[in-house]
Amino acid sequence: MLLLSAFVSAALASQANAAAFAGSTSTFQFPPADVTATASDIASLFPDASEVGFPGPTPTGDEAESIATAPAVPKVQSFYPLIRPETSDNKGIEYNVIDSWANLSPMQSVASFGLDGSSEAIPEGCNINQVFLLHRHGARYPTSGSSPATFAATLHDAAGNGTLNATGPLSFLNNWTYKLGAEILTPFGREQMFDLGVGFRVKYGDLLKNFTGLPVWRTTSEERMVDSALHFAAGFFGVQSYQDSYYQLIEIEEDGFNNTLAPYDDCANANNEIADLGTNATIAWNEVYLADALERFSADLPGMNLTIADVSGMQTICPYETVALGYSAFCDLFTEEEWRGFAYGIDLTFWYTDGPGNPAVSAQGIGWVTELVSRLTQTRLTTSNSAINASIVSSEDLFPLNQPIFVDASHDTVISSILTSMNFTSLAAGGPLPTDHIPAFQTYKVREIAPFGSTLVGQVLSCPASDTPTHIRWLLNDAVLPQTGIQGCEFDKDGLCELDTFIAGMQQRIEEVDFDFDCFANYTFSLANDTITTGQFPQ
Ligand SMILES: *[C@@H]1O[C@H](CO)[C@@H](O)[C@H](O)[C@H]1NC(C)=O
Ligand SMILES: *[C@@H]1O[C@H](CO)[C@@H](O)[C@H](O)[C@H]1NC(C)=O
Ligand SMILES: *[C@@H]1O[C@H](CO)[C@@H](O)[C@H](O)[C@H]1NC(C)=O
Ligand SMILES: *[C@@H]1O[C@H](CO)[C@@H](O)[C@H](O)[C@H]1NC(C)=O
Ligand SMILES: *[C@@H]1O[C@H](CO)[C@@H](O)[C@H](O)[C@H]1NC(C)=O
Ligand SMILES: *[C@@H]1O[C@H](CO)[C@@H](O)[C@H](O)[C@H]1NC(C)=O
Ligand SMILES: *[C@@H]1O[C@H](CO)[C@@H](O)[C@H](O)[C@H]1NC(C)=O
Ligand SMILES: *[C@@H]1O[C@H](CO)[C@@H](O)[C@H](O)[C@H]1NC(C)=O
Ligand SMILES: *[C@@H]1O[C@H](CO)[C@@H](O)[C@H](O)[C@H]1NC(C)=O
Ligand SMILES: *[C@@H]1O[C@H](CO)[C@@H](O)[C@H](O)[C@H]1NC(C)=O
Ligand SMILES: *[C@@H]1O[C@H](CO)[C@@H](O)[C@H](O)[C@H]1NC(C)=O
Repeated sequence: MLLLSAFVSAALASQANAAAFAGSTSTFQFPPADVTATASDIASLFPDASEVGFPGPTPTGDEAESIATAPAVPKVQSFYPLIRPETSDNKGIEYNVIDSWANLSPMQSVASFGLDGSSEAIPEGCNINQVFLLHRHGARYPTSGSSPATFAATLHDAAGNGTLNATGPLSFLNNWTYKLGAEILTPFGREQMFDLGVGFRVKYGDLLKNFTGLPVWRTTSEERMVDSALHFAAGFFGVQSYQDSYYQLIEIEEDGFNNTLAPYDDCANANNEIADLGTNATIAWNEVYLADALERFSADLPGMNLTIADVSGMQTICPYETVALGYSAFCDLFTEEEWRGFAYGIDLTFWYTDGPGNPAVSAQGIGWVTELVSRLTQTRLTTSNSAINASIVSSEDLFPLNQPIFVDASHDTVISSILTSMNFTSLAAGGPLPTDHIPAFQTYKVREIAPFGSTLVGQVLSCPASDTPTHIRWLLNDAVLPQTGIQGCEFDKDGLCELDTFIAGMQQRIEEVDFDFDCFANYTFSLANDTITTGQFPQ
């Protein structure tokens, strides 16, 4: 009797365990609610530093400005503490899987956008007068309802409450649980933002001397956006003082609200079938490059009818688990060629939904470009005919025009929209992306455009050095962007364009982008006739 009941409860326990495996979701929140509830009881026992006193000597040194003073500027090359995965073939060779994660790659400095020999360091003879930073948030969990969670649910369903029976390289799935949250930053993503703040202080800190008030820096209201902005500021100013060192403007990101850092919320064609162009392109490409993997994996998952969408979900779990958990068993299931295919699939999504191949994209980016011109020309905007929020930009307090350092936090798709609006045509030089093969000449690569922690930096310079700016240039993930697509900007080995010429080019872009039509007109577009490269509906 005793033995039997022990046996029964062991069997029940193993069934409960089984139900917890194979794709079930596990979550944890620290501190747990009951701990939080009682935490204040003894908080008074732990006075903060200002109450304790005795801080020791605190002299500050001078500001750093390595961008102007150092002979070379170091590149972002590390993704500590993430484990660099291997591929299922060619193990141990030079190829880095992380380079194929596109917008899910941690930002690493881009080698070159064609201006070989140019550098992030201020060109000889120039002075830096002002800097603009537009950056993406750090590494996050998958967005709600995306393919990783869908795959976990599919797997869980397939297992029922029994064993999955996966074999070979997939046998780890029998015990695999889904540990990812959604939307918010991972600890590694917070590190990226803190590091970005530190790096920006070391490179550009000297420009703080030219502020006449506290900096006003912007982000959006989403949790990961606020978290990113605060971690950037903590890195830039230090955790003890960042809250008193600047103002954080948090612009509402929600359907129907105007926000140049989230312009899709004010653009109907960013939320209907026009926005499916990229998804469709990627779905078509998945059928091509994942066919082999589908066959391989199916053999190891008896009793489950795996689809291409499932396999795509499995591949997508690799970068997400890695940036959240440090490691993923999904990564080395795929070959090097399949990883190159993965990157290309995301390149397709961005080109046709958030880049040069989507007719509503320049319209989405043009609001930020209009704000940029306002800042560069010291001309206050009072109205909006794009995603601009007029109540924000018309306020001197909320939207100062004269800052030596501007910092805006945004999203991958917004950075790609803005680059398209600004007409950095070298990124689109390879033309529309085919959905059946990876072209030999490809200039549009999302890893270089919008990885986690991506940065677009505008350096406003005086050449020769003075207090009056004469030139501007742009660095995307630390590599200098050619400005030859911008009307009037000549070829320059350092990517410089005269400031007035650049401003005139941007004003022309503001003229030629039809926000109302491209975002709100009822037009049709399909992959079959989508040959555009300017992110605008063809005139
Ligand atoms: C698995 O177990 C849960 C809870 O015991 C039950 O609700 C569910 O129906 C079971 N699913 C299958 C496929 O047997
Ligand atoms: C796994 O194998 C067991 C024993 O053969 C079987 O009862 C079960 O249905 C299999 N599970 C799946 C998901 O096929
Ligand atoms: C998977 O879980 C089962 C049930 O708890 C356990 O018996 C088995 O050892 C686990 N396998 C691995 C590889 O962890
Ligand atoms: C503009 O921003 C203000 C301040 O955040 C907000 O109250 C208002 O709703 C916004 N307006 C629109 C149209 O987004
Ligand atoms: C995307 O594919 C679906 C299904 O084939 C199709 O109905 C839809 O028209 C396509 N959308 C675009 C924008 O090409
Ligand atoms: C898989 O597909 C086959 C053939 O269509 C079908 O007979 C079988 O029931 C399916 N199995 C599952 C688990 O859906
Ligand atoms: C929001 O944007 C629309 C253009 O899409 C504009 O008509 C409206 O005035 C803007 N509202 C504010 C508060 O800027
Ligand atoms: C910035 O501040 C420095 C040091 O106070 C000063 O020499 C310089 O003229 C200022 N530059 C500008 C562009 O205002
Ligand atoms: C944008 O690029 C297109 C294509 O190269 C060019 O025709 C157009 O003049 C450019 N516009 C501006 C304002 O630079
Ligand atoms: C867009 O135009 C099509 C064809 O004329 C029509 O069927 C559809 O209802 C229109 N959609 C909207 C949102 O007006
Ligand atoms: C693209 O093709 C669709 C039909 O597939 C047609 O309705 C639409 O007008 C075309 N758009 C352009 C811009 O040529």
